[in-house]
Amino acid sequence: MKIIIINGPNLNLLGKREPTIYGNASFEEYFNSLKKQYPNIQLEYFQSNIEGELIDKMHEVGFDYHGIILNAAAYTHTSVGIGDAVKAIETPVVEVHISNVYAREEFRQHSYISPNAAGVLVGFGLKGYQLALESFIK
Ligand code: DQA
Repeated sequence: MKIIIINGPNLNLLGKREPTIYGNASFEEYFNSLKKQYPNIQLEYFQSNIEGELIDKMHEVGFDYHGIILNAAAYTHTSVGIGDAVKAIETPVVEVHISNVYAREEFRQHSYISPNAAGVLVGFGLKGYQLALESFIK
């Protein structure tokens, strides 16, 4: 089973960025521990700060992989292009947000991804990625 985690802008700074909201762990640390816990899953990770690169990656994997776990970060709230890409591909997308976006600014409460996502996980911290992974397994 091939699953990819795709992270959007500023998530390369996890561990350093606003730790009270996003925690102290870097994503690489978390990803490596996740890979160890699921040795039978072909788990990949891609991060970009560039909208078009996120769309290109979704096109590349979106007719072949079993699942995409997508945290499009700020592009969630702005990108018609990423929303359209979720619609265009065949691979189901589970949307993840580390923080509870509904308890934050109003502009974070709209998502271009959610209407076409297989499911949405919000506010569980990094554990949301593992819960999304479990949703593809079970
Ligand atoms: C985020 C929430 C977004 O509103 C924000 O722009 C992010 C991260 C989250 O994981 O909580 O960069 O997607």
